Amino acid sequence: MALKSILLVFLVLAAAAAPIAVAQLGLLNGLLGLISIKGTVACSLGGGTAASGSALPVFPNALVQLQCGPGNVVASSTTNGSGVFSIILDPLQMLLSSLLNNCGLVVNTPLASCNAQLPALGGLRSPLQFIGSTVQGLLNIANVIPTEFRYVSATT
Ligand SMILES: *[C@@H]1O[C@H](CO)[C@@H](O)[C@H](O)[C@H]1NC(C)=O
Repeated sequence: MALKSILLVFLVLAAAAAPIAVAQLGLLNGLLGLISIKGTVACSLGGGTAASGSALPVFPNALVQLQCGPGNVVASSTTNGSGVFSIILDPLQMLLSSLLNNCGLVVNTPLASCNAQLPALGGLRSPLQFIGSTVQGLLNIANVIPTEFRYVSATT
């Protein structure tokens, strides 16, 4: 008897939870959703995202953190030799609207590590910008980029 009621409770919970999980995964339109945050960090006090074609030098081996709210690191990535980083989030972790409104990118690796003339303290920050979705097979990818990295003397 007890086992049966436990089983019943489990079935009811599973039935209630399933549609929510499916909706959050973006499966309603038959596609699995992902959020991709990609960009290039420039070895510069600001004014650029070192987009391809830009004359700004790049910032390799910089730790790029996705922060939501003060000091809350949600994900991180390191720039490669071309200053490029990439962070992939699934929509279970974060809704796109909340990401754009509450989160930003923070680079605390000192600029002095890519150019000794630049400050050894502080770091770079950028808000986020949605630039559209792309479909790759079964994946619906929401593409997000840094708006512009700017130097701030204290990154708390
Ligand atoms: C850095 O990553 C980008 C994007 O994946 C790639 O195009 C580029 O070749 C990489 N650079 C190096 C030096 O690995």
